[in-house]
Amino acid sequence: MEFLPFTRPSLDEETIAAVTEVLRSGWLTTGPKARELEAALSHYVGGRPVRVMSSATAALEIALRIAGIGPGDEVITTPLSWVATANVILAVGATPVFVDVDPASRNIDLNKLEAAITARTRALLPVDLAGLPVDRDRLYEIAHRHGLRVIEDAAQSCGANWNGRRIGSLGDLVSFSFHANKNMTSGEGGCLVLNNEDEACLCEKLRLQGVTRAADNTMDVDVLGGKSNLTDIAAAIGLGQLKQLDSFNARRGELAHLYFEHFDRTLGCDLPLSDFSNGNWHMFQPLLPLASMRLSRSDFIEAMRAEGIGVGVHYPAMHLFTLYRRLGFAEGDFPLAEDIGRRTVTLPLFPAMRDADVLRVCETVARVIKSALV
Ligand SMILES: Cc1ncc(COP(=O)(O)O)c(C=O)c1O
Repeated sequence: MEFLPFTRPSLDEETIAAVTEVLRSGWLTTGPKARELEAALSHYVGGRPVRVMSSATAALEIALRIAGIGPGDEVITTPLSWVATANVILAVGATPVFVDVDPASRNIDLNKLEAAITARTRALLPVDLAGLPVDRDRLYEIAHRHGLRVIEDAAQSCGANWNGRRIGSLGDLVSFSFHANKNMTSGEGGCLVLNNEDEACLCEKLRLQGVTRAADNTMDVDVLGGKSNLTDIAAAIGLGQLKQLDSFNARRGELAHLYFEHFDRTLGCDLPLSDFSNGNWHMFQPLLPLASMRLSRSDFIEAMRAEGIGVGVHYPAMHLFTLYRRLGFAEGDFPLAEDIGRRTVTLPLFPAMRDADVLRVCETVARVIKSALV
């Protein structure tokens, strides 16, 4: 039987032809396609300025710099995310402060967040895990009351919305990822949604060596920038994907519905929150009933793989990585994130999947777990 990966991008012939056209054009690096993608993304998020980057990691780091965050500042975030989320805080010399997650949404617990705010807190950096948005009303109410910037790590929530408003169309600085596994991809890439043209101008400098060019062909550098521009090759892929993002997400929603319909509820797995109004179903992640299983998570993944089904892990709680332990974090600091991080598995979910694939995954999960229940 054909191997079913946990995710796979859908690239149509039109997109492949557009990439070929760029390759033939003689202009490969940042150029007309990157600008076209920025305009299309800006339109998608209601007209706010958008700048594209080589990754969302770069977009997040640039967002922190635009917000003026550096040494001595604290940034509050979640321990349950891809490690880029906290790495960028360290990269600008600031201090990550973790707050445990809400077990239902698996996102930062807004009920616990305020207790972590100190005189040094400068920003909140929430993550929409699996594309399920953090409550934007409460988030911004807290941020405004404490005078904090918000850098939304919306890497996974492209095309999701908050009560009918698209993620990116509201709020402060918002970063999306176009990594190959995301709901829309440019191979690698990302973007930052900004508040105004001044921020957009600073963003352009920070992504390319701090350079500004004047109309008389002179050049200046007044800020230290890096190198994180997006190529036109990648932008052509992104343009093809953005056109299909809403239909991709609609298909993801149908597949998630099927998962809820067919998943065996007697297995003891904890299923994700069944949200079909805000989220974009970036991932479908049950938590394994490890305490009542003779298999480890790794054994489970291997058993599924042997049946031709790919399973991912997104993510172990990041404060337990060596780098973060060295900063003083330890086991038990954020028990809910740790528990989810140990038990989570990402089952196949991508737009090209057939309905029958979901049924096959559900049957196989049930068989593997039942054979291992104590
Ligand atoms: C939550 C989250 N934040 C940040 C990133 C970083 O994105 P990129 O790989 O585009 O740098 C990712 C990508 O995996 C992510 O899932």
